[in-house]
Amino acid sequence: ATTVETNKLQVLVPGGVGFIGSHCVLELIKAGYEPILLDNLSNSSIECLKRVEQIAGCKITNYKLDCLDLEGLRDIFKKHSIYAIMNFAALKSVGESVQKPVLYYKNNVGCLLNLLTCMEEFNVKNFLFSSSATVYGAPQYLPLDEKHPCIGDSITNPYGKSKYICEHILKDTAIAHPDWNIIILRYFNPVGAHESGLIGEDPVGRPNNLMPYVAQVAVGRLPFVNVTGTDYDTPDGTGVRDYIHVVDLGTGHIACMKKFKENCGLQMYNLGTGKGYSVLEMIKALEKASGKTIAFKECPRRPGDLASVYADPALAAKELGWAAQRDLDDMCRDLWRWQSKNPNGFQ
Ligand code: WQD
Repeated sequence: ATTVETNKLQVLVPGGVGFIGSHCVLELIKAGYEPILLDNLSNSSIECLKRVEQIAGCKITNYKLDCLDLEGLRDIFKKHSIYAIMNFAALKSVGESVQKPVLYYKNNVGCLLNLLTCMEEFNVKNFLFSSSATVYGAPQYLPLDEKHPCIGDSITNPYGKSKYICEHILKDTAIAHPDWNIIILRYFNPVGAHESGLIGEDPVGRPNNLMPYVAQVAVGRLPFVNVTGTDYDTPDGTGVRDYIHVVDLGTGHIACMKKFKENCGLQMYNLGTGKGYSVLEMIKALEKASGKTIAFKECPRRPGDLASVYADPALAAKELGWAAQRDLDDMCRDLWRWQSKNPNGFQ
C-alpha cells in the first residue's frame, strides 16, 4: 500500500495500545499529530484501541507488531515518513522482572535498540523515551530532581535496571548524533483514567501496582488490599509516592513534542506532581470517590520497596512550561468512573 499523504506530522507510538500509550495517543491527536501505533498486545487489548478511536472520532493506524521484529519495524518506516517516536513498548512489572530478568532485558533493551537502528537507517531525529523514577534508586534527598544521581547498583530489580540501561544507551546515542533530539521522561506513579471512563489501566492478572489493585477491591473483584509495609519512616508508616494523573502525563508528552522544534538535543525531565501521598491516604481517597468501604490487611514490606519517593517538578515547569493540573480527587474520581463502568476491564 502506498503512503497516504497527510499534512500531519506522523508520530510512531510503540506500545500505543497500553495504559500510558493510549492516553498519550489521544493527546497527540488533540495536538494535531497523526499517531502510527504498533503494539504486540502482550499487555494491552485491541478493545482499548476501538475506544480510543471512539473518543478521538477518527480511525487510528495500528500494526500488531513486536519491536523485536526488526524487519517488521523497517517495513513500517518504509511505509510512513516518521517525524518522531514516542516509545512505550516495555514490560513493566517489578515482581515479574525479578523472576524473568532475561525476558526483561531482551525485551526492554532490545526494543529500544531496534527503534534506534531504524532511526539511523531512516533519518528520524526525534525520540521520546518512557523511563521511570525507579532509576534514581534509593533517594539520597527529597524531593527528587533530575540532578539526583542514578546509581545502577542501588536499583533493586531488573525492570528498573533495564530502564537505567536504556537511558545510558540514549545518552551515548545522543553524543553520536548531536543533531538528534532525545527526551527521557522519568514517570513517578501514573494513575487515573480518561474522563470518559472508556479507557483506563487494565493489568493482566493480579495488579502489581497499588491503585489498580485498590480499584478492583472497591468494585468487588478482589477482597482486600494488602498494605505492604506499615513500619516505614513516614507519617502513617505506609509508603509515600508521587501519584500523577495519566492525562497530565499525556500533556507532558505533548509539551516535549514542542521542545523538539527547539532542537533541544538530550534532555531528561521528571513527570510528577511534587506531592506525595501514603498508601492509607490513597485508599481513603478512593473510598471518598467511590462511596465504598475498601478493606485492607497490614502485610510485611515488599523486598526493595522504598519509604518515600516524590518529584521536584520544577525543571519540566521551567523548560517545558508544563505542570500537572489534576489533583488527588480528580485522579480517584476518574479512576473510579473507569473501574465502575468496566469492572472486568476491557475483557
Ligand atoms: C506504591 C506503594 C507499595 C501494591 C512501581 C515501579 C515504577 C512505576 C510504578 C512501573 C508502595 C504499596 C503496592 C499493593 C501496597 N512503573 N503497595 N499494596 O513500587 O512505587 O513503583 O510502579 O510500573 O517504576 O517501580 O508502585 O504501585 O507498586 O507501589 O501497599 O498491592 O503502594 O508498598 O508503597 P511503585 P506501586
